[in-house]
Amino acid sequence: MTQELTTSARAAARAAAPARAPQPSTGLDDSPRPARPPEPTDAGWWRDAVIYQVYVRSFADSDGDGVGDLRGVRERLPHLARLGVDAVWLTPFYASPQADGGYDVADYRAVDPLFGDLSDADALVRAAHRLGLRVIVDIVPNHTSDRHPWFTAALAAEPGSAARARYHFRPGRGGDGALPPNDWESVFGGPAWTRTENPDGTPGDWYLHLFAPEQPDLNWDCPEVVEEFDSVLRFWLDLGVDGFRIDVAHGMVKAAGLPDIGHKEQAKLIGAQVLPFFDQDGVHEIHRSWRRLLDSYDGDRIGVAEAWAPSAERLALYVRPDELHQAFNFHFLRCPWDAAAMRSVIDESLGATASVGAPTTWVLSNHDVVRHTTRYAEESPEQGLRRARAAALLMLALPGSTYIYQGEELGLPEVVDLPDEVRQDPAFFRSFTEDGQSGQDGFRDGCRVPIPWSGSEAPYGFGPVAGGPSWLPQPDGWAALSVEAQTGDPSSTLELYRSAIALRRRLPGLGDGTMAWLDGPAAPEGVLALSRPGFVCTLNTLGHPVEMPAPGRPVLSSAPAEFEGRSVRIPADCCVWWAI
Ligand code: NOJ
Repeated sequence: MTQELTTSARAAARAAAPARAPQPSTGLDDSPRPARPPEPTDAGWWRDAVIYQVYVRSFADSDGDGVGDLRGVRERLPHLARLGVDAVWLTPFYASPQADGGYDVADYRAVDPLFGDLSDADALVRAAHRLGLRVIVDIVPNHTSDRHPWFTAALAAEPGSAARARYHFRPGRGGDGALPPNDWESVFGGPAWTRTENPDGTPGDWYLHLFAPEQPDLNWDCPEVVEEFDSVLRFWLDLGVDGFRIDVAHGMVKAAGLPDIGHKEQAKLIGAQVLPFFDQDGVHEIHRSWRRLLDSYDGDRIGVAEAWAPSAERLALYVRPDELHQAFNFHFLRCPWDAAAMRSVIDESLGATASVGAPTTWVLSNHDVVRHTTRYAEESPEQGLRRARAAALLMLALPGSTYIYQGEELGLPEVVDLPDEVRQDPAFFRSFTEDGQSGQDGFRDGCRVPIPWSGSEAPYGFGPVAGGPSWLPQPDGWAALSVEAQTGDPSSTLELYRSAIALRRRLPGLGDGTMAWLDGPAAPEGVLALSRPGFVCTLNTLGHPVEMPAPGRPVLSSAPAEFEGRSVRIPADCCVWWAI
């Protein structure tokens, strides 16, 4: 199944390092992609990078089958260049039965035919590099697909065999082994164990799967697992990728003896619970060794942890100097729309990462959570959009790096009315247990609806033909949210993101560095005011306008603010950037 690249294609991909051109001096809204100034130091491009998450199956469909693909991503790269981001993260496109949107990998070195082939991956990496964009790919090391040759071999092998040692197989409890080996619950609902059948048809041992039964957990105490993933990382690094987003980076090591939790507790997606299968100290050894591997390559290749940790301090351990480069700050993502809560999450996050010398990695949405435009909409969709626009300016003003989830630059809301028959998220299907709907509280298909590019009819340029298919239906009314419709409209969310990212490059105080809170009249109740060299950001979190002294010259605002003399009236749920 493994697809091979020619040596010359690999060499060409390696040679195509992202170009860095001098910074333009003018042009805010309509400038083509502002080029990044050469790195002033060797601090690392990732410390303040803006990275765009492409959920491949929902980004752009080049062949009209209704599913996004790698060629589609390549064709749409100019949108990302124009947006001004530094890098793109691609969700898994590997050979997979797609039981969990590709997070169930059957062959880590092959591209699923649904998304293209290895030459498409190679062409995409090279095209991105030509545009000055780096490429990060997902790696899924906590579990394989149940169709991975290792797992089919394990099922066919005897208990206690080397083939089974790559996974977690255990006899059941109770006289006849009919009870799962422990009380762990799967993240997607139901027990984290599934019983196997012996070759003679009798019930056999159980295997562990923290996610769906089609995603058996690997045993990272097995040296073969360690070696195989080193080889997989090298395969993609040789092809030219600039790093990896590490799926379930906190879950690869389980507490010794797989102890019971003692009570029924389902791990929440992107949760912060303390559990014997997450955030165990042993995972850090794996990340250290991956860091050594990344460092053995040229060009500042990075590792990004998808780690759910109970506190900012525990999360910071993943970004110690000899471990990974970034870890998504899900504490910020989960923070409610409240000035005091936001301030304390920001302080805790910055404090924790500073203690290990790392930048903080901000994120508001991804393919696993309800889009923040909808999360923030307590009273109305308009309120949600106002807050989402303001939150984007806050996030882009904070020290560190930022991830943008595809479609957030268009202000897309969550699609909340998908009919059950089109849903594909395994969390949805496993959420109906004996005690009712006890699964995850937001299902993930609603944030994965293909994004609108152009035109007035679905799939709005997602696929090549008007009226053509899309794997999830798009709502009526998304024509007005398309890239085409928003381009050139200074009040659009797309132009707000473009301007903010361009300014972030241009203002020397933004990106990596430090910040301080302003207090007193500079930050009335409900307003967050943060200052960076030559720059102030003010966020009014209240549902009504606030009048306050203008801290400088306004350079960008998420909604029209009113100025009178040295005062400003900042509208409800609005963020303003100031040059000082
Ligand atoms: C986290 C991924 O983001 C999510 O989509 C996936 O279902 C789980 N890890 C399991 O791989």
